[in-house]
Amino acid sequence: MSLLKFSIFHPILMLSAFFGTADGFYECMMLECVYSTGDYSDMVFLVSMSFNKVVDAQYNSTLGKFVGFTEPGERNAERWNKNQAFMQGLKADVDTVCRHYAKIADSSVLDKTVLPKVKVSSVKQTEGRHPAVLMCSAYEFYPKKIKVSWLSDGELMTSEVTSTMELADGDWYYQIHSELEYTPKSGEKISCVVEHASSPQPIVKDWNPSISEADRNKIAIGSSGLVLGITIAAAGLIYYKKKSTGRVLVPN
Ligand SMILES: *[C@@H]1O[C@H](CO)[C@@H](O)[C@H](O)[C@H]1NC(C)=O
Repeated sequence: MSLLKFSIFHPILMLSAFFGTADGFYECMMLECVYSTGDYSDMVFLVSMSFNKVVDAQYNSTLGKFVGFTEPGERNAERWNKNQAFMQGLKADVDTVCRHYAKIADSSVLDKTVLPKVKVSSVKQTEGRHPAVLMCSAYEFYPKKIKVSWLSDGELMTSEVTSTMELADGDWYYQIHSELEYTPKSGEKISCVVEHASSPQPIVKDWNPSISEADRNKIAIGSSGLVLGITIAAAGLIYYKKKSTGRVLVPN
């Protein structure tokens, strides 16, 4: 059930060059390396030429030539395609630029994984015949790809599960929340299962209905208060005793 094998699809190296003049011409050249496999066998090098924000010609390394989309674009494409030195250079760029930099970029990002922090909480308790709602949240994981599922006594639960998308925290980390609506049966064990590239085994969190986290917090705060109260009372008592015995010992 490992998710370690996943594919990526992202254009890296968006090198762009802009040329503009004061009277409004705008030219742009965008270089992209597009790939989705770990061995870069499907690497495509794209060079998109724009004039006044319209892409009018594009080089695609799979085709090995420029294709024009507008009349001036077609004229330029024809001219560039005849330039052998230029075309040889572009052909070599799939290796010297794309595969070279993809390797560097991937080694700094792709093999990095961060284990999600998984929490199961109760959203709605059962009241009468209404179903209960549980939420399984996974926080601060990387990369984005993740699978959250629910088990009832080890069996996959498929109905009444709603999940958010993977939400970007904006700091490379993601979070996701999955809600389960269910009618509790006595003795039933409900677990949330999270599968992620950071863990070779699925992360399993059992739901413990006896004490919810909110209740646990209340108990923790209550007992801390009690301990604090007893400590202060004891200190006060000791202080009072010392003071009163001290007074007795002073001779008149
Ligand atoms: C590049 O050309 C190939 C072959 O025609 C095509 O399959 C592919 O979609 C093109 N890539 C892009 C990004 O346009």
